[in-house]
Amino acid sequence: MQASPDIAFIGGGNMARSLIGGLIARGTLPARIRVAEPVEALREALAADFGVSVFDDAPAAVADAGLWLLAVKPQVMRQVCEDLAATGQAQRALTVSIAAGITTAQLQRWLGGGTAVVRAMPNTPALLGAGVTGLFASPQVDAEGRRLATELLSAAGQTVWIEDEARMDAVTAVSGSGPAYVFLLAEAMQAAARAEGLQPEAASILVTQTLLGAARMLAESGEAPAELRRRVTSPNGTTQAAIEAFQAGGFEALVAAAIHAASERGRALSAAND
Ligand SMILES: NC(=O)c1ccc[n+]([C@@H]2O[C@H](COP(=O)([O-])OP(=O)(O)OC[C@H]3O[C@@H](n4cnc5c(N)ncnc54)[C@H](OP(=O)(O)O)[C@@H]3O)[C@@H](O)[C@H]2O)c1
Repeated sequence: MQASPDIAFIGGGNMARSLIGGLIARGTLPARIRVAEPVEALREALAADFGVSVFDDAPAAVADAGLWLLAVKPQVMRQVCEDLAATGQAQRALTVSIAAGITTAQLQRWLGGGTAVVRAMPNTPALLGAGVTGLFASPQVDAEGRRLATELLSAAGQTVWIEDEARMDAVTAVSGSGPAYVFLLAEAMQAAARAEGLQPEAASILVTQTLLGAARMLAESGEAPAELRRRVTSPNGTTQAAIEAFQAGGFEALVAAAIHAASERGRALSAAND
């Protein structure tokens, strides 16, 4: 296996911080990580907390780094890429972008032609190392590039390669925005629990632990959700009564419509960044 290259983070915000923390916890040496971040307080905190090298501008941070992780907001991505293109080094690096809605074609155009780029869509549980990231590679990315990108994003949780970039909007709609759907379900269940006469604190504990326990069963049992549901649904029992009410209200069609709406919005935002 080849030695891993130095990693330059462009943007030292929330996502970058969780990836850096995850990489260091998994054995990456701080000396191999360089971070460009315009906000002095964030720079100082990253240097103090992780011992990484910090820079106030992107071109300085990428010097000698073979792997670039772009973690700035989509609105500033074009300017950041054009500044990096001016270093003349983009063709020698593997660039991974985590910006929502920015395509590999846009990144390649802004960085200069022929660059190897990976587009990644992580989600907020990355902050706990419990995220999941969908990854798409441009044709210039070789097997070693895919290995490096997988290793980098594994610092945030699990990774899944997507072979058709058009499907990255679906990844955004399912896992990128997905934690918010679970939070919405938690809000609705807590409100219903209070309406049934439970105290707010009891409602909060019961709902939170139910979601956590059910998610762990789904992740750890290896069973399909339909099978796990069948096992807790006795004929004419309480669960069946609830599920019939959900289905009468069009629950499955509503979830499909919500995910489709998110996917469509993702497509529209990508087009707007062009
Ligand atoms: N948070 C999520 O759950 C999530 C999920 C999927 C994808 N993403 C994507 O991840 C990216 C980062 O998100 P985040 O939540 O980490 O955002 P964030 O906390 O705002 O971090 C972005 C950081 O980059 C800095 N920055 C701006 N321009 C720069 C430049 N020219 N050079 C270097 N650094 C620069 C920003 O500084 P200023 O504050 O001065 O602008 C900010 O500190 C976004 O593109 C987002 O779409 C986030």
